[in-house]
Amino acid sequence: MSGIQVGLEAIESASRDELATLQNERLSTTLHHAYDNVEHYRKTFDEAGVHPDDCKTTEDLAQFPFLVKDILRQNYPFGLLAVPREQVSRIHASSGTTGKPTVVAYTRNDIDMWADVMARSIYAAGGRPGDIAHVAYGYGLFTGGLGAHYGAERLGCTVVPMSGGQTAKQVTLINDLKPRILMVTPSYCLSLIDEMENQGLDPAASSIEIGVFGAEPWCDGMREQIEERLGMDAVDLYGLSEVIGPGVAVECVEEKDGLTVWEDHFYPEIIDPGTGEVLPDGEEGELVITSLTKEALPVIRYRTGDLTRLLPGTSRTMRRIARIKGRTDDMMIIRGVNVYPSQIEIELLKVEWLAPHYQIEVIQTGNTKGLIVHVEAAGPLSEVVEAAVAEEAQAHIKANVGIRVDVRVEPPGSVQRSTGKAQRVIDHTC
Ligand code: DLL
Repeated sequence: MSGIQVGLEAIESASRDELATLQNERLSTTLHHAYDNVEHYRKTFDEAGVHPDDCKTTEDLAQFPFLVKDILRQNYPFGLLAVPREQVSRIHASSGTTGKPTVVAYTRNDIDMWADVMARSIYAAGGRPGDIAHVAYGYGLFTGGLGAHYGAERLGCTVVPMSGGQTAKQVTLINDLKPRILMVTPSYCLSLIDEMENQGLDPAASSIEIGVFGAEPWCDGMREQIEERLGMDAVDLYGLSEVIGPGVAVECVEEKDGLTVWEDHFYPEIIDPGTGEVLPDGEEGELVITSLTKEALPVIRYRTGDLTRLLPGTSRTMRRIARIKGRTDDMMIIRGVNVYPSQIEIELLKVEWLAPHYQIEVIQTGNTKGLIVHVEAAGPLSEVVEAAVAEEAQAHIKANVGIRVDVRVEPPGSVQRSTGKAQRVIDHTC
């Protein structure tokens, strides 16, 4: 499909039965496509004693083996392609902190589908044709910039392809071009707001009415602060390169109650990360996604590493996921307690005098690991107030996360800023 997309697509309000029929059809086609064209799938399906013909409905999918990130690395760069390389029209890659990046590939139809789901996502966030969309996600191998760009164009927006960085220039352009939509990571949005204030501008008076924020975990407390400071609605956007990029799921602005998964293209399951067993809707576990329409790089039961829950649909018939709590590999085990950075963020944002800029250090003392949480004060504080604020944050963390941490309140501007995904944890123990 191409051209400008206006309003809801029919499938967004289809019945669950209609959706299931479409999913079953597409799932069968995808499994055959993967089995017929990718050696890895043929081999692992055969080893597991399953064949695409065994999958009549999405319920049968649980018999099929998982795909994990390591397999993508082992098949670097083109080993998992299900189409001849000449039919690939775009490559992206996820950054990967160590070793080779994970390369992902798209046919023309894949790019088109991605633009469609991103257009849908921006529409669900409240964007409309004719709006100006300022895209401050990074352009390049990262999927954020180009994913947002093509979606906004597909919706009929005027796109400002700013990319990340050059914070002062971003603010000048926002002030001059007056975008209605801002697409950026929530942590970098905070830097943009600070820069507006540095330039003597009132963020609440800016033209921005809608924020489409994602690529990293953030909590409702952070949403409230950003919405209040910018005077706008901020919704959560989820996605990952291996599956497509941004646009797998998004919050609908009318509810802001979790992210609607575009289930006609991406079939979600939640599994117990330890046993791999599929969990019922509502239970927390690792999100697993099967692509239903991708050509170049179909993913069958891809283990995202992201922790969430599946919830019934509200604004749409499609199911939702709860905000991502964190990644299984971001989990810190502190004196026997499992801790995610997002849990610390939630508690810090309950304290009035703190700004939402923080970084967590993991340290080793003797045989035990501990956390030092560096968090900025919202403004200049006296030593006495600073100590009281740190104590309050520590008490919230102890009460709700279950561990004692060392909270250090730092002066405004002292915590490192990101222009993309924030680095929340510095681990000195590994
Ligand atoms: O971050 C795609 C994206 C770009 C999503 C722009 C949203 C907006 P990757 O670089 O492959 O792709 O990283 C994917 O980022 O597995 C999650 O751990 C995390 N992530 C993405 N969106 C969210 C979100 C992009 N809304 C990884 N909340 C995923 C929490 C998120 N974590």
